[in-house]
Amino acid sequence: MTAHTIPARKPARPHFSSGPCAKPPGWSAEKLQTASLGRSHRSKLGKARLQHCIDLMREVLQVPETHLIGIVPGSDTGAVEMAMWTMLGARPVTTLAWESFGAGWVTDAVKQLKIDPTVMEAPYGELPDLAAVDWSNDVIFTWNGTTSGVRVPNGEWIADDREGLAIADATSAVFAQAIDWNKVDVLTFSWQKVLGGEGAHGVLILGPRAVERLESHTPSWPLPKVFRLVKGGKLIDGIFKGETINTPSMLAVEDAIFSLEWAKTVGGLEGMQARADANAAALSHLVEERAWLGHLAADPATRSNTSVCLTVEGADAGFIKKFAGLLEAEDAAYDIAGYRDAPAGLRIWCGATVDTADIEALGPWLDWAFAKVQSGNL
Ligand SMILES: Cc1ncc(COP(=O)(O)O)c(C=O)c1O
Repeated sequence: MTAHTIPARKPARPHFSSGPCAKPPGWSAEKLQTASLGRSHRSKLGKARLQHCIDLMREVLQVPETHLIGIVPGSDTGAVEMAMWTMLGARPVTTLAWESFGAGWVTDAVKQLKIDPTVMEAPYGELPDLAAVDWSNDVIFTWNGTTSGVRVPNGEWIADDREGLAIADATSAVFAQAIDWNKVDVLTFSWQKVLGGEGAHGVLILGPRAVERLESHTPSWPLPKVFRLVKGGKLIDGIFKGETINTPSMLAVEDAIFSLEWAKTVGGLEGMQARADANAAALSHLVEERAWLGHLAADPATRSNTSVCLTVEGADAGFIKKFAGLLEAEDAAYDIAGYRDAPAGLRIWCGATVDTADIEALGPWLDWAFAKVQSGNL
């Protein structure tokens, strides 16, 4: 067989998008519970399902009782914006950015909130100097940079005796990478990533220091209703018991419950992390076998085990578009072109809902697409 021969075996599930990500193996819409649909989310049943979802997230993510978990509007973006708009302004702010989403939070802080933050940046593939972060500031960072495939190696760089808040956008990290809950005051994510859930809602996790900030600090700017977490100087604690600010999608909630129950069947947090690690290892093996593929993340210690970003020798944006288009047309791999703002390359999701055998089956397909685009014979 030459690289031009179309491979015989396709990945059983060619879903490698970095968000929304592959549904859990065995998922089907018919398997979702539907009794809460068409009912008020404030009915006994609706609230019970929302609370059940919160309880499952706490159990699977091993979130300690010190931290509150809320389901909020606007997916992960909504949760991050809520934290930024309600908590910032009390003390100086540092924003860290090494890819597109971190850069988005910098833009918010600089251009919208106008709080003149210290901005620590690094190019795609690298991290800023985490040891140089001043923890007397509030610090905003992405735990896993989804568009560069670079993650923080762990939470050790976050000071235990920090005065500022550690605000982590961990949407492509949770359920795949270890989180030290003592190190985070605010953590956000959405169900559409490692859980393979739906977009729609964000999850906002608050530690005691974040609650203290909310109850002691009134922002100088106006707050829209969907951002308001405090009433009369007190946290609206119902938000963290399933009394959502506004109407949630109960279908998305039921879908998240399905994914969380699936997560328990594969060994919970450790099982989910092991699945992501095995997928990332299988992909790294494919990279090692191919001189024309490389990792965008320079340092293996900071290499993502979810949104793995790869360089392709000699490829520009046009090459990658053809490459990914060929694989999509063959139903061999969906959505593997790198993010539009990132250097031209591939991004292959390795989170827990992907099966390792499907990553392994990609190898010959990558060879086939590379040879075909290089030959110009499409
Ligand atoms: C690091 C990071 N932050 C924020 C977002 C935005 O997430 P959402 O679309 O769930 O709001 C994404 C989406 O890919 C992301 O990867």
